[in-house]
Amino acid sequence: MPEIRKSAVVGAAPEGASDQLSAARAVREMFTSIAPRYDLLNHVLSFNVDRLWWRRAARTFRHVLDRPGARVLDLCCGTGDMAFALRRQAGKQAPQILGADFSHAMLQRARAKSAELAQNGSAPGWIEADALNLPSPGEHFDLVTSAFGFRNLADYDAGLREIVRVLRPGGECGILDFGEPSGAIGSLYRVYFKQVLPRVGTWISGVRGPYAYLPASVERFPKPEEMLAQMKSAGFTEAAWTPYTFGIAGLYRGRK
Ligand SMILES: C[S@@+](CC[C@H](N)C(=O)[O-])C[C@H]1O[C@@H](n2cnc3c(N)ncnc32)[C@H](O)[C@@H]1O
Repeated sequence: MPEIRKSAVVGAAPEGASDQLSAARAVREMFTSIAPRYDLLNHVLSFNVDRLWWRRAARTFRHVLDRPGARVLDLCCGTGDMAFALRRQAGKQAPQILGADFSHAMLQRARAKSAELAQNGSAPGWIEADALNLPSPGEHFDLVTSAFGFRNLADYDAGLREIVRVLRPGGECGILDFGEPSGAIGSLYRVYFKQVLPRVGTWISGVRGPYAYLPASVERFPKPEEMLAQMKSAGFTEAAWTPYTFGIAGLYRGRK
């Protein structure tokens, strides 16, 4: 086993951000600015594979979702698709699912999308909150997930510690995020991710910046072995990573 160095990367650093506060502000403004086109862009730029990733991640936690009265928190929920995938996997069971995000505009979309589910009382709840400072008592949730959101936190260690704090003992965590595939597929993918995606994203969203930030943030994010080491030092007793679609994305799992 190679020795694992502790990552020097503290957290996300959008261009122009000089400290964690300004990084968080820049991230919030960025997602607020693309909120109206966020869903469309997600599906177009991922060729709809995003839906498979959310579903696969949600299916992993069926044993938790099937537990009557389970409490689930989806961090950085954005427009809610991970929370909806969890809701669908839960079937007739009705765990309490709460989506949290600090962008009001993204949450507004999540709320609008859940209007139909709200009629039969099975919609997730939505809360405007910072993932680094959750308004939740400790040891409260059975499952905490985050899809493509954790990478944007201004402090990854602090984010992991906050997840550990709100999880009950034995509770589980699932962090779905982009990775960097290797080999020939990786080379091809990098051309798409670094050259094509930023251009198409900027064109459709009409906003310059966020879609150049995306590949830069993935490049900066700790590699799987570093992330797993960080999870363990934050207090997870078990930690594992499962690559999705050649490692273009992957699911980190941890148990408190
Ligand atoms: C790429 S989107 C992911 C949305 C959704 N989970 C999905 O899979 O489509 C990232 C989301 O993380 C949110 N976010 C980033 N940092 C956050 C923080 N510190 N607290 C709460 N939300 C945060 C952003 O506002 C944005 O909605």
